[in-house]
Amino acid sequence: MPASVPAPAPVAPGSVPAPAPGTLLVDGIGELVTNDPAHGGGPLGRLTRAAVLIDGDRIAWVGRSADAPAADRRLPAEGRAGLPGFVDSHAHLVFAGDRAGEFAARMAGARYDGGGIRSTVAATRAAGDGELRATAGRLRREALRQGTTTIEIKSGYGLSVADEARSLRIAAEFTAETTFLGAHVVPAEYAGRADAYVDLVTGPMLAAAVPYARWMDVFCERGAFDGDQARAVLAAGAAAGLGLRVHANQLGPGPGVALAGELGAASADHCTHLSDADVAVLAAGSTVATLLPGAEFSTRSRYPDARRLLDAGVTVALATDCNPGSSYTTSMPLCVALAVREMAMTPAEAVWAATAGGARALRRDDVGVLRLGARADLVLLDAPSYLHLAYRPGVPLISQVLHDGAPILPDGG
Ligand code: NIG
Ligand code: FE
Repeated sequence: MPASVPAPAPVAPGSVPAPAPGTLLVDGIGELVTNDPAHGGGPLGRLTRAAVLIDGDRIAWVGRSADAPAADRRLPAEGRAGLPGFVDSHAHLVFAGDRAGEFAARMAGARYDGGGIRSTVAATRAAGDGELRATAGRLRREALRQGTTTIEIKSGYGLSVADEARSLRIAAEFTAETTFLGAHVVPAEYAGRADAYVDLVTGPMLAAAVPYARWMDVFCERGAFDGDQARAVLAAGAAAGLGLRVHANQLGPGPGVALAGELGAASADHCTHLSDADVAVLAAGSTVATLLPGAEFSTRSRYPDARRLLDAGVTVALATDCNPGSSYTTSMPLCVALAVREMAMTPAEAVWAATAGGARALRRDDVGVLRLGARADLVLLDAPSYLHLAYRPGVPLISQVLHDGAPILPDGG
């Protein structure tokens, strides 16, 4: 009989423990969402009485517990539900300060227009590297405890060459999915000179960002960057070898989604105000619509019409948009629950969007799925089914998280 897994040692914020050598069998999983349609039952590829064999940081086998191969160690799931680790494809974790006062003002009736971004820029510029690193690490750890095993992190609160480069350098300490968002807003010192700022972003700032960035993003919105400016930003990013993503159609209609589709961006994010033409562009192309219900929740705004997108055949992802202004949450389970209750997604659609959908939005095929060769990123729930993520909102259901094969919670299993 193999030994059961000992409780892992406490881990420093943001860091991830290494997997123990040898194989680990997670068995007795009551219901397992694999997102591998080869198992049948639709996109979730749902198995019952399942097991997952992990070898190092990779999945070596998925199937019925009764058929499981031998392993060096065993983690008994005792009937819990399992699913792939969440893939949060949109987060802004490098910043200083918070904007709780702005949130309170909104809850008393003020509108969100993105204007508060500049106050976070001022706080971020004034902060030392250690403070920024500590905040990003705390939030990364907080997300991991809630089942997020892959996370994208954007810059965008530095908005100078040096501050964007250091934001990305710090982001790269926590994830490979780093995004240069120098074109978040026009900073105060460039007020009235937006085109000059776009020249800075597409020139020296991009050059300083490229060593640390995988993606290029732009906030294409009234009050931020218009269609021509966003096109220039994205074209420069593509020319520098970065993949593209766009903050699009969040606060009102605009050209962002059409641009994302035209330029083959991996993702158009927010997608709250869409025309029929926007939906058609997304349905015809490979750009994922990443919906961020935490932002609508925290700005008390209308939610995006997920049903319209899904019925048109658009690939939908869910992400947190964690940032101190419009959505200060790292909780993918909250986003799943909001998507089900407020956006007419089924629990199956929402769970797929928070795992496989996020992977599509990052153009990754090694995460968001449990199959041979994928990363050993697995969440166990203190619940018999993934349905409970939406059915039991606000309840800490995450029992254990395996990240790259290593269990990260002390009391899991
Ligand atoms: O995705 N929309 C632009 N950027 C962030 C908000 C940033 C902020 O308010 O600080 C977002 O919602
Ligand atoms: Fe955002």
